[in-house]
Amino acid sequence: MDLGIHGKRALITGGSRGIGRACVVELAREGADVCVVGRDATLLAAVVSEAASFGVRAVSVAADLSQFEGCKAAFDACVTALGGVDILINNAGAATTGPILDLPVEAIQDAMNLKSFGYLRMAQLCIPSMRANGWGRIVNIAGGAGTSPTAGNMPTSIANAAVLNITRALSDAVAKDNILVNVICPGLTNTDRARTLARGQAERRGVDVEVVVAEMGRSLPARRIAEPEEVARVAVFLASEAASYVHGSSIYMDGGARRATP
Ligand SMILES: NC(=O)c1ccc[n+]([C@@H]2O[C@H](COP(=O)([O-])OP(=O)(O)OC[C@H]3O[C@@H](n4cnc5c(N)ncnc54)[C@H](OP(=O)(O)O)[C@@H]3O)[C@@H](O)[C@H]2O)c1
Repeated sequence: MDLGIHGKRALITGGSRGIGRACVVELAREGADVCVVGRDATLLAAVVSEAASFGVRAVSVAADLSQFEGCKAAFDACVTALGGVDILINNAGAATTGPILDLPVEAIQDAMNLKSFGYLRMAQLCIPSMRANGWGRIVNIAGGAGTSPTAGNMPTSIANAAVLNITRALSDAVAKDNILVNVICPGLTNTDRARTLARGQAERRGVDVEVVVAEMGRSLPARRIAEPEEVARVAVFLASEAASYVHGSSIYMDGGARRATP
């Protein structure tokens, strides 16, 4: 299948590690130019080098996306280096966990600043030029927690619930402009974040964090957690010409964990 994104210009937030990094590599493999956003300059340089090995233009920008100024700097850097943005992968996230009865509401605010408001701000910055070009793709990476709140995951579940709502509303606003806005809700995925999420339980039980991650995987219908490349391949499809009639959809990819239908 021809994905039709050779030469498209992609901005990937949180592209220095994990799912975002895998998106950068898969987009570059398909011939898209990439602008990678994160905060760690060393990690950014490494992923830019790997992306450039596919013969595409690859640049990075270090920016804190929890503030408007960081979002604007990331957008401006992409426009300066690549000439515009055709594909936006909103992926940067870093929510904490903790029991709701003791949770400082600032933890929720922080998660929303980066993820909910960061994703919306990046979309607002990118959409005018996508509209002008008559083509655009926005893929938001949310998470199953957005529809599965627990007493311990409020920051991430509220931030992800907001992303689901933002996705639907943005899609309604721009579908007529040939701009597709969709959201992926991954389940537990083999990244630094998965180990962060498992650490509390590992410490309470006095076992290695990898033991907890493996157990979490075995509890799923698929009997394992996802690899970042598996999420990235779905993101690249949604970012492609091939997804041309997928508007405002939420794709759950969690190894079969989700009980709700659909
Ligand atoms: N892994 C999972 O199990 C899982 C499950 C469901 C949903 N998700 C979602 O998938 C997305 C990616 O998760 P991941 O597991 O790949 O996470 P990760 O490995 O921790 O990577 C997070 C990325 O976001 C960047 N980032 C964090 N804070 C930032 C900030 N303030 N400004 C700019 N960039 C920032 C990080 O770069 P720097 O630290 O260098 O800035 C890094 O590139 C997140 O939105 C997460 O909520 C993950």
